[in-house]
Amino acid sequence: MTEAAPLLLRAARGEQVERPPVWMMRQAGRYMKVYRDLRDRHPGFRERSENPDLSYEISMQPFHAFKPDGVILFSDILTPLPGMGINFDIIESQGPLIQDPIRNLAQVEALRALEPAESMPFVGEVLTRLRQSVGNEAAVLGFVGAPWTLAAYVVEGKSSKNYAVIKAMAFKEPELLHKLLDHFAESIATYLRFQIDSGAQVVQMFDSWAGQLSPMDYDSFAAPYQKKVVDLVKQTHPDTPFILYISGSAGVLERMAGTGVDIISLDWTVDMAEGLARLPEHIGVQGNVDPGLLFGTPAAIQARIDDTVRKARGRKHILNLGHGILPGTPEENGRAFFEAGKSVMERIGAA
Ligand code: CP3
Repeated sequence: MTEAAPLLLRAARGEQVERPPVWMMRQAGRYMKVYRDLRDRHPGFRERSENPDLSYEISMQPFHAFKPDGVILFSDILTPLPGMGINFDIIESQGPLIQDPIRNLAQVEALRALEPAESMPFVGEVLTRLRQSVGNEAAVLGFVGAPWTLAAYVVEGKSSKNYAVIKAMAFKEPELLHKLLDHFAESIATYLRFQIDSGAQVVQMFDSWAGQLSPMDYDSFAAPYQKKVVDLVKQTHPDTPFILYISGSAGVLERMAGTGVDIISLDWTVDMAEGLARLPEHIGVQGNVDPGLLFGTPAAIQARIDDTVRKARGRKHILNLGHGILPGTPEENGRAFFEAGKSVMERIGAA
């Protein structure tokens, strides 16, 4: 007898499921004491995410604590950059820092095509181990950053408020930016294929900062490259559910549906029912609880989950936050989110 596939995978494929699966963006991280303790012993982010034993251990921390329906690889969207010739670090309380920001044609032409098996064998190892460990109790999620968001980091050189440097490039030297975006699209697709071959069962692409583009510029600088990644991955791995996340996506939801993804991850600025009404029936949704609610009471968290699940009923839905869980969130409220998510049908009824 073959055991049923993990709930999250069945739901993402569009099968009828007993309840919406639940996981949390950034579910491994600083809000957990076990993570902070491990970080004290291993203060470098690159070490934590690139040493396979540490990355595996951190990926499993939320699974051991809360049994989410999905276990996401502990890594970062910037992790593939060194394999293309771009060095980076993550500085405590500042965020990502790119050593030599990409600003000219010579730099773009010098970028290498990513060969993940060579430059990031640790990712393959961690995904394989995760899959073995969680079996059918959870689905293993892989992820990447989308070309526009990766470009935002490598051109700006760090986190940005108004994206002035990359927008200067977009509106002064669009061909240069397109060349960079195209390079990322190819390499990111290769990287996702490697993740799936190593054990990822569902993949998510973060275009976190594509919401900073006007819809017209989204059509030029974000959507075509999202679509290129999706097309390339679907060519070889058509059955792996593909999730797309953008922060501040309410103005481009219909456009996101045009990229060929299976599931759109909604932030909390759009009402679940209204967001669904704007998306074709075959598209599923993930989300969309405000991460700030996890600073509230367990009752408030539960009520919002019930509302979200009620509104998404009848459609493909993965329960999640609308963005990553925030540092400083009380850990017991993270637990309350998972528990309320798993027991939601007992409160709202199956019908
Ligand atoms: O979800 C998970 O548990 C997997 C882990 C994960 C991390 N980064 C670990 C991390 C994932 C999925 C990411 C993706 C990521 N990284 C995104 C897309 C998601 C989003 O939030 O929009 C982005 C934009 C980045 C870039 C990045 N990495 C930033 C802006 C920062 C600093 C943020 C901060 O709060 O300090 C990072 C560092 C980072 N990546 C941390 C973690 C847990 C925090 C640093 C640490 O723990 O030492």
